Amino acid sequence: MKHIRNFSIIAHIDHGKSTLADRMIQKCKLISDREFKDQLLDNMDIERERGITIKSQTICLPYQARDGQTYDLNLVDTPGHVDFSYEVSRALTSCEGALLLIDAAQGVEAQTLANLYLAMENDLEIIPVINKIDLPSAEPEKVALQIEEDLGLDGSLIQYCSAKTGKGVEDILEAIVKHLPPPEGDPDKELQALIFDAHYDAFRGTIISVRIINGTIKAGDVIRFMSNGTEYRVEEVGLFKFRREAEKKLSAGQIGYILAGVKTVRDTRPGDTITLRDRPCAKALPGFKEVQQVVFSSLYPISTDDYEDLAAALEKLQLNDAALSFQKDSSAALGFGFRCGFLGLLHLEVVQERLEREFDVSLILTVPSVKYNFYLSDGTKIEVDNPAHFPDPAKIQRVEEPFIRATILIPERYMGAVMTLCMERRGENTSYHYPMPGRIEFTCELPLAEVIYDFYDRLKSITQGYGSFDYEMLDYRLSDLVKLDILVNGEIVDALSQLVHRNNSRARGLHACEMLKEEIPRQMFKIAIQAAIGGNIIARTNVSALRKDVTAKCYGGDISRKRKLLEKQKEGKKRMKTVGNVDIPQTAFLAVLRSE
Ligand code: GTP
Repeated sequence: MKHIRNFSIIAHIDHGKSTLADRMIQKCKLISDREFKDQLLDNMDIERERGITIKSQTICLPYQARDGQTYDLNLVDTPGHVDFSYEVSRALTSCEGALLLIDAAQGVEAQTLANLYLAMENDLEIIPVINKIDLPSAEPEKVALQIEEDLGLDGSLIQYCSAKTGKGVEDILEAIVKHLPPPEGDPDKELQALIFDAHYDAFRGTIISVRIINGTIKAGDVIRFMSNGTEYRVEEVGLFKFRREAEKKLSAGQIGYILAGVKTVRDTRPGDTITLRDRPCAKALPGFKEVQQVVFSSLYPISTDDYEDLAAALEKLQLNDAALSFQKDSSAALGFGFRCGFLGLLHLEVVQERLEREFDVSLILTVPSVKYNFYLSDGTKIEVDNPAHFPDPAKIQRVEEPFIRATILIPERYMGAVMTLCMERRGENTSYHYPMPGRIEFTCELPLAEVIYDFYDRLKSITQGYGSFDYEMLDYRLSDLVKLDILVNGEIVDALSQLVHRNNSRARGLHACEMLKEEIPRQMFKIAIQAAIGGNIIARTNVSALRKDVTAKCYGGDISRKRKLLEKQKEGKKRMKTVGNVDIPQTAFLAVLRSE
């Protein structure tokens, strides 16, 4: 155990986490330079494009230190977004230390702080690393001062590097060996293995990432998941080298994988404890939470022929994404689809993009919703996350909606703007304090529904990227909820209905009408777009009628041009849904989701 170091890299987006990880892999000669591809750790397409790590991967680096000894440095990668903060906290729990990576040109930013707090809560030893010192705009001294004075970290530990050129990277590896404590734990005690991640492999089943806290595990052992009591026989254990490498056993302090024929990642829950059936531990490790879907939306294929494909794609995705839930749903406007549950809006966007890109299905999404509690006059309580299930208003006694406690970290100068934003979003019980000079930590109780509606984007824009945000679920509170319907030429488009607070209903209705007006192409007749609550119209717009035939301008012209135009129209038609006699393009459904 003396020769193991378990650590993560925590950083604000784009400060160079993946680049540094790649450079470390290279320095440890885990693979030949020829095999080396950039961005080894972030290998999902979407991650690369959006530049954010979504699914973490772990790697075990054999490092020969200057003291002549070889150390196993286990780098646990973490996702970097609030939707995944529970996953981040589980990953950090499996480490003793963390590199706090800061861009020398940008300095300390919001996420740096949020992640640092998370690391400190987990009692991790922190090594500050200032990256990108090769940049002409780098100000390493200034950043070092921030680290010492604002963050209160030990300045003598600061490492300077350029992940791009490789300068200083070896010193970082050396600092990890020197300053991070080796893991503790007793290999002879009852097994306690912390699950911090799981991936699906078509041949081997679920690959469970674990940190062995106490005890030892080997192939042939029968393991038990403490959260639900299910048992499996271990087929293989091993370490995450460049590829998986089987080992005879894993014991206390180590990070590695377990293969036990677990069919889907849903059976392995991050934060759960694995123990042995024949010699179980007395208590599960603390901090386990069931994943909770908080945002719900229906997905429909644009072409009804794609329904089976969508079903297959969702099933495939779920193999690797235990946090995604789905069940059949149907809409008069859009046909058959699926009601899906997500961890948050980013999770929803990622799933949507993966379905469209990897599985090649074009989708329409409905307005995301949270889960509401309805208390009815006959004494029953029902949970509703889908506007289609809105009960008869005459029977509703009261409705409750979920509230969260938001923690927002901002430089002092943005206090006023953030306060205003929270008030606009029906915030309650605000309070604040100064965790460090010039910085305010602002807490506020907010309806979750107000947060899933572009809160994070607004926060980022009003604080110029300096606001960081985290939240926890609080409780359910009384709400004045209504169902907002959108009518196109007098027909309700059920897929556009949404559940909104009465105070927001007019603004949302108007917004939906305006967006649809822009997106629905003019047709041969006038199209009325209306927003309504119950039978009451609360907003309306019109799309005026088209006067000329689109091909008219081609008459007398060249025939191939005319054909092209018609083909283009046909292509466009594929991405349209016909409701009543009106063609509504996919973009219109998406536009309604966008905020003002
Ligand atoms: P997330 O996955 O979003 O957390 O981003 P990241 O922190 O992994 O950032 P990434 O490694 O993708 O680097 C972001 C950008 O900074 C890339 O364009 C890198 O090439 C660049 N970069 C990283 N390290 C350095 C460095 O030392 N010097 C310079 N000049 N650029 C760097």
